[in-house]
Amino acid sequence: MKVLMVCLGNICRSPLAEGILQSKLDPTLHQVDSAGTAAYHVGEPPDKRSIAIAAAHGIDISGQRARQFQVEDFELFDRIYVMDHANYQNVLHIAPNEIHKNKVQLLCGQQEVPDPYYGGDKGFAQVFDVIDQACSTLKKSLTDG
Ligand code: 4NP
Repeated sequence: MKVLMVCLGNICRSPLAEGILQSKLDPTLHQVDSAGTAAYHVGEPPDKRSIAIAAAHGIDISGQRARQFQVEDFELFDRIYVMDHANYQNVLHIAPNEIHKNKVQLLCGQQEVPDPYYGGDKGFAQVFDVIDQACSTLKKSLTDG
């Protein structure tokens, strides 16, 4: 099973989602990656605040590098989780067909993972908790049956 986490810049939310879900799963059974719908930060490591909140929870995401979501990802991944409705629209916009569209879901149901980029450290702590909870639920759906 291959899971892709998607946000806008691939430096704040989806790197956390990648690291958190990876930390909960057996890497021989599941692969987790992340990408951004925008190219602003391609090649950059995650935001320092994401690296710090992950490290505070024992997860090292400092080796990740941002990349842009590509149409090939619809074939490469089984499930694609987006953080907010704008990400959802951007990803669906380039989906070649219905099978690909059906792979895309909001990570937290109808709730959005808020963009913490322009806020402070508290926003990153909240985003960590929201994503952590969603990934615990996701883990159950990936590992049950
Ligand atoms: P992310 O956060 O989508 O969670 O990585 C953002 C990162 C960068 C920008 C916006 C959101 N930006 O405008 O550069």
